[in-house]
Amino acid sequence: MAVLSLIGKLTERFEAAAGTDPELRPATKPQFGHFQSNAALRLAKDQGRPPREVAAELVARIDVADLCEPLEIAGPGFINIRVRADVLAGVANDVLHDPAAGIDVAEDPGRIVIDYSSPNVAKLMHVGHLRTTIIGDCFHRVLDATGNTVIAQNHIGDWGRQFGMLIEQVLEEDLDLTGLDLAGLEELYLRANAHLTADEAFADRSRARVVALQAGDTETNALWQQLIDISKVGFNATYDRLGVLLTDDDLAGESMYNDMLAPICEDLESRGIAVVDDGALVVFVEGFDAPAILRNRHGGYGYDVTDVAAISYRVNTLHADRLVYVTDARQHQHFLLVFEVARMAGYLPKSVTAEHVGYGMVLGTDGKPFSTRKGGAAHLDDLLDRAEEHVSRPIAVAAVKYADLSNQLQKDYVFDAERMTQTSGDTGPYLQYAHARVTRILAKAEAEGIAWETITVLNETPEHNLALLLSRFGEVVSGVAEDLQPHKLCTYLFELATALSVFYEVCPVLTAEGDVRTSRLGLCSAVRRVLSRGLGLLGIEAPDHM
Ligand code: ARG
Repeated sequence: MAVLSLIGKLTERFEAAAGTDPELRPATKPQFGHFQSNAALRLAKDQGRPPREVAAELVARIDVADLCEPLEIAGPGFINIRVRADVLAGVANDVLHDPAAGIDVAEDPGRIVIDYSSPNVAKLMHVGHLRTTIIGDCFHRVLDATGNTVIAQNHIGDWGRQFGMLIEQVLEEDLDLTGLDLAGLEELYLRANAHLTADEAFADRSRARVVALQAGDTETNALWQQLIDISKVGFNATYDRLGVLLTDDDLAGESMYNDMLAPICEDLESRGIAVVDDGALVVFVEGFDAPAILRNRHGGYGYDVTDVAAISYRVNTLHADRLVYVTDARQHQHFLLVFEVARMAGYLPKSVTAEHVGYGMVLGTDGKPFSTRKGGAAHLDDLLDRAEEHVSRPIAVAAVKYADLSNQLQKDYVFDAERMTQTSGDTGPYLQYAHARVTRILAKAEAEGIAWETITVLNETPEHNLALLLSRFGEVVSGVAEDLQPHKLCTYLFELATALSVFYEVCPVLTAEGDVRTSRLGLCSAVRRVLSRGLGLLGIEAPDHM
């Protein structure tokens, strides 16, 4: 069931009467009502008439008696709007009785591929992978809740030159991989890399090993598969720890596209879209400093062409109509470039949108890129360990996710484990706490046999504010589904939790009586539902006790 926000309804009515967007804003002071509009001031300027006169005309014409107290004109010609208390009770009731808490199904739901997490085989997930995993998971939940079909694609780095040196190193050391975990593989990676730079003959053997891998040599492929399997176990341990939706079914690594690469090169070259430049096959795109490289001058395929192939697969095989990529902001140009190449090739039709959502870096409290206490590059698990030094697992995870999602994604953010785990302030644990507290009140009422079916009376300002906020939830979620800015949902939930604590101060719940008590319990129950749904969309658990 759709619960159109009050702002939405009022805007419609104003527009019908005034022929212009009223640009409704929350009132600056409670005595001015709930919303105000400066439409009359703007219209008066256009028409060269006194604003108060225009305002009076509008007020006479706007038909909102069923929603509002009589409209008032203030100051130079502002229109002040106060929603009727019974209407506020009504919207709170709608949320209370809607299992979706007012979340709307998109008008035109789509098939959406989200490419996120995408760590690299034989390497521990690093700090940047924390962000893509958390952000992608949130998109996944929000887009799913708004009725879209979401297809997660975990584009792991499981192909490429590095596997030549890894496998060659395993053979040389006569290493038994079965005893290794992902951290062990990372050490192997470092040894192989050092070996590669120091030993020309090893480098040659590594190159030959890549050829053997691509040719399907049995022993080579078995070792390669083992590297992947061990890495998967490591990735899954982190996914479990974070509580994200990704499963093995979502794995769609770079190797998957291997067979598509040569035909794509041929196709683009034959159509004159790709050209040979200095021995490499490339696509020049206007406005970009460097071309997309389809095949390097040694005949090797890399990151660019793999992403072109992935686009083709996602459009033609998965039938996606929206592609979303979540990686750090530094890859922005790469994605814009491959989107352009795919458009030129006709693999990415106009009807399909492609978006790269880039995010900023995770900084330490010293303002530098987050590192371990010893000063080394930090792994994702180091961050979680740091948060768990302060609080238990579900709270630590909430703290980290909320800190990650509550700022504009493009901005860097400071990983301050102590601040983000506090139960006060704009933090994940604060929202969990708000949820646990309201749950406790409701449980107590239930234990005392008090039922709350309907919200009938809402007389106090804090009650009105809660109802107004409740009516906005669906719209906030639809907004995030569209513009992929989860901080707006965070801000909303923080406002709701704050309004709830103001409400407690002014409005006793359990000690109130009659309809006032049942109405307040109903209101609490609706707020609880929105808090828990909202946190759920951020991928944050809402425990009943804290
Ligand atoms: N494996 C890459 C990395 O760790 C991210 C891959 C992102 N997805 C893609 N389709 N290129 O940086």
